[in-house]
Amino acid sequence: MKTTFRVFFITLLVLVTNITQAQKGLIADKAMVVSAREEASKIGVAIMKKGGNAFDAMVATELALAVAYPYAGNIGGGGFMVYRKANGETGTLDYREKAPLSATKNMFLDKAGNILPDKSTDSPLAIGVPGTIAGVFAVHKKLGSLPMSEIMKPVIELAEKGVIVTKKQEKSLNNYREAIIKANGNTTKFATIFKENDTIKYPALAETLKRIAKNGKDEFYKGETSQQLVRYFEKIGAIITQEDLAHYQAKWRNSLEFNYKELKIISMAPPSSGGICLSQIMKMIAPFDIKRMGQNSAEAIQVMVEAERRAYADRSAFLGDPDFVKIPLKELMDSEYLKTRMATFNSDKATLSSDIKEGKVNYNESTETTHYSIVDSFGNAVAATTTINDGFGSKYYCDELGFFLNNEMDDFSAKPGEPNMFGLIGNEANSIAPQKRMLSSMTPTIVEKNGKLFMVVGSPGGSTIITSVLQTILNVYEYNLSMQEAVNAPRFHHQWLPDIITFEPNAFNAKTLGTLKTKSYLINEKTTPVIGKVDAILVLSNGKLEGGADFRGDDKAVGF
Ligand code: DON
Repeated sequence: MKTTFRVFFITLLVLVTNITQAQKGLIADKAMVVSAREEASKIGVAIMKKGGNAFDAMVATELALAVAYPYAGNIGGGGFMVYRKANGETGTLDYREKAPLSATKNMFLDKAGNILPDKSTDSPLAIGVPGTIAGVFAVHKKLGSLPMSEIMKPVIELAEKGVIVTKKQEKSLNNYREAIIKANGNTTKFATIFKENDTIKYPALAETLKRIAKNGKDEFYKGETSQQLVRYFEKIGAIITQEDLAHYQAKWRNSLEFNYKELKIISMAPPSSGGICLSQIMKMIAPFDIKRMGQNSAEAIQVMVEAERRAYADRSAFLGDPDFVKIPLKELMDSEYLKTRMATFNSDKATLSSDIKEGKVNYNESTETTHYSIVDSFGNAVAATTTINDGFGSKYYCDELGFFLNNEMDDFSAKPGEPNMFGLIGNEANSIAPQKRMLSSMTPTIVEKNGKLFMVVGSPGGSTIITSVLQTILNVYEYNLSMQEAVNAPRFHHQWLPDIITFEPNAFNAKTLGTLKTKSYLINEKTTPVIGKVDAILVLSNGKLEGGADFRGDDKAVGF
């Protein structure tokens, strides 16, 4: 009896310890990569073990994702990188796609001015001029330390050796197979039925990458690869020309920075809406004691939703490519302005989105993505989010070169007031023009606490990116969760229009949802199974790193 009790007690202790341990993510002493695929995280870490810095690892991870995670990783898309060097210097790189030179404002409308269904998502016109290769070369030139050939070697080897299909990947390939065949015919690579544990090799992509490693960025934008790509565009009826490719430039931009209590948030400025929306939401909720209200309590959800509603309304009216439109950044982030904006908040009742328009600002008018976080042993940090927009982008797959092309043109506002694939409504500021960058929600973000590196965070998820990043930061800072717990925690989302709060299904307390319903909030628990896939790194008080890799995908933290 005594022994039985002891065995029971020890088993219980082991169980409790395991549960407690399971709540923390991977802990590493010095350096870490958290990304959507273990193969990519491993390659990024291997580069840092060789003495490379976080920027070398960024190049390696970005390109490894293009091989291991064709769902979103890419060389046919674009993205944003936010960095903070060990000495505290910060900056960002914009390698977002651009509209082709012959794009026109009404290219997705019929003669009567109505939206042509699917043109901006599933047609060759959906493709924007890719920026990823320009992006990695710009990062390498300014901040890298190892030779490009050395960084790209393991990526090319991965493409040749192949990548093992995971259960989740089997499912996504299955879901998209018909659409991929519709775009490319039934002899295309992904017409094949791939099952879990199969190995997919990428010989065409390996050859493309070898040429790029040898000849540099120009190979993609001016060389043989660009010629093959343009021939492919002509074949499918896309409008991107050699001139479009030759014109493409990635752009260094100042980071968008603001304070939230004792945190300094360093995020992406336009053409992403990520940083500005995050700053508006955080500044609007700062005066409320959301810590006392409790994580995911009806009270806290209400405050956050009302702030989100107001920020997304401003997003819709004011934001676009800053190279084309004047954006009242300072005014939109002004604390007094945001205080006035929240003045209509009533804790007894939901504000109707139909009663919310963009704020009054005085100024002179003139389904796929992936995020990874990196910290190196020198103390440099990189947050990068990269995308081809939808799962497998436009579904157009250039078999000769071995990659999918984006459908980023859908991130423009094809017609004022009409929603895009994420239900986001835009305006003149985000209308289509040649060479313009489409507005994004990507929010690669670095957080400082008391002047020191604290967190590296970001997510895919279209319009839900901003709110996923927001909740992850608050889960750690306000609710004291570990990095992994903060990533695991159930998420919700509101984006002004449609006027609905989306909750991850079966994850929220019925009483909480009931309280919100009595206050006239409209609730959706059905159609969005996943809100964001956050990959993040937290610097612990002892200086070690904790990874948060999202279980919603195959995401993985690797470190040393
Ligand atoms: O830039 C943007 O905001 C979108 N193209 C991101 C797309 C995305 O996150 C899809 N992932 N689920």
